[in-house]
Amino acid sequence: MTYDTGSTTGAGAPAVSDRSSLSVGSNGPLLLHDVQLVETLAHFNRERVPERNPHAKGAGAFGVFETTEDVSRYTKAALFQPGVRTEMLARFSTVAGEQGSPDTWRDVRGFSLKFYTAEGNLDLVGNNTPVFFVRDPMKFPHFIRSQKRMPGSGLRDNTMQWDFWTNNPESAHQVTYLMGDRGLPKTWRHMNGYGSHTYMWVNAAGERFWVKYHFHSQQGLENLPNDEAERLAGADADFHRRDLHAAIEGGDHPSWVMSVQVMPYEAAKTYRVNPFDLTKTWSHADFPLIKVGTMTLNRNPENFFAEVEQAAFAPSNTVPGIGFSPDKMLLGRVFAYADAQRARIGTNFLQLPVNKPKVATNSYTFDGNMTYEHTGTAPVYAPNSFGRSWSDETGPVVEGWESDGEMVRSAYSLHPEDDDFTQPGILVREVYDDAQRERLVQTVAGHLAGGVVEPVLSRAFAYWKAVDAEIGERIEAAYRAGRTDDSPGAGSDEPERAEAAVADAVTHAG
Ligand code: HEM
Repeated sequence: MTYDTGSTTGAGAPAVSDRSSLSVGSNGPLLLHDVQLVETLAHFNRERVPERNPHAKGAGAFGVFETTEDVSRYTKAALFQPGVRTEMLARFSTVAGEQGSPDTWRDVRGFSLKFYTAEGNLDLVGNNTPVFFVRDPMKFPHFIRSQKRMPGSGLRDNTMQWDFWTNNPESAHQVTYLMGDRGLPKTWRHMNGYGSHTYMWVNAAGERFWVKYHFHSQQGLENLPNDEAERLAGADADFHRRDLHAAIEGGDHPSWVMSVQVMPYEAAKTYRVNPFDLTKTWSHADFPLIKVGTMTLNRNPENFFAEVEQAAFAPSNTVPGIGFSPDKMLLGRVFAYADAQRARIGTNFLQLPVNKPKVATNSYTFDGNMTYEHTGTAPVYAPNSFGRSWSDETGPVVEGWESDGEMVRSAYSLHPEDDDFTQPGILVREVYDDAQRERLVQTVAGHLAGGVVEPVLSRAFAYWKAVDAEIGERIEAAYRAGRTDDSPGAGSDEPERAEAAVADAVTHAG
């Protein structure tokens, strides 16, 4: 690319002017054959791709993952063998807000990682919390819509959020994290990351293990108080994006230690909670953290659109030695992401440099919009008699598990200690200290005071009393006393809801 001899058209010919369009006389009409004007305006109309739904607002950086420990007894994956260094990309995000929304609205934060390994790309697309709001993928689009905007006014709405959460009590654990300090990280550098789901690891001997990934910030965990987050939301909507960029630009490279909890394959059947339920954590006393290595972010993208907006992270990207699990959410996500990316970026998004594996590919998916990589005259079908190889494994799948039974639509079968409120109760009583509990009370009461209407309001009090009787009482008392400390980004839309209720009543009466 040369910048010193004038510009060119997209087709490479010298461009005449980037400043004046072609007209008939100085004041005359414009001409359709002004190739450069037509190209400039037409391409501009196509500059954006649709934003991600969800996790639209975010940014990221490149770095390296180094496996410092020997975990080869658990996985044969090449990137997790001792001493291996793997190039990677990370992207951090909020969930509900749109592209231009403030980084410091209270929300869960995305923690997406792409490892360009010697065996293909491995993506871990997690969050800054170890659990999630729901455990069936059918509920996910409903959940996201309830966190976004009202259909009529286009406003965000606290009643809608609490309506969803209280109608889905399995959300209590994640909502306790969200309304706690982690809902407002100080920067992306100061938050932990989690794979959240249970994944499978398989070693060279074919032995299988269940694992959960943890990434602990080496910058320490720091969060923002509500008032500071609210101030920043107005003063600098890109506060987190700016912080990461500036830190890396200044040579301050953030790092995270990756550890795993490892559960023996057979133990899953009898563990006291369902180990594949995404709303639950595994006790660290039962399954202590095992260190694997360190990830360091050391390079800013050169171009935000090409390398962050077009980046495509997908839980379906796994490598030999790493598999899925019976977690229904994970299995739903295995479909959803690559499908979203075909629609959002284009059929051949894997050919873009940021998404392209560093290893050679030999895929029989080809052609389609914007094909760049191609296989020349090689056979396009398998099997073939003309030298192009194909894959042909049959029999038991290495990264598989057993399952049998009738086809049903059903919740998971319960393990002895499975319920929705025990773990959030422990989080409130045993993990949070007095100051954190007080901030939780203030934040929830403030959020409810942001216009939450009946019958959702009473259900919200009951929800918190089920998490912890005392905290629930305190939240209700704080709400009734008007001691509110609302979270930024929240609001209410009472008139629209009343209208919807009337419309609903009419429809149902008919
Ligand atoms: C069945 C449940 C889920 C579905 C259907 C789903 C679907 C999606 C979709 C369609 C995107 C946009 C992808 C794109 O356009 O590139 C996305 C983004 C994302 N999701 Fe999910 N999601 C689910 C659950 C989760 C869970 C449980 C987590 C975390 C543990 C999560 C973390 C993320 C993150 C971090 C992103 C942003 C990826 C990026 O940085 O580009 N999602 N999700």
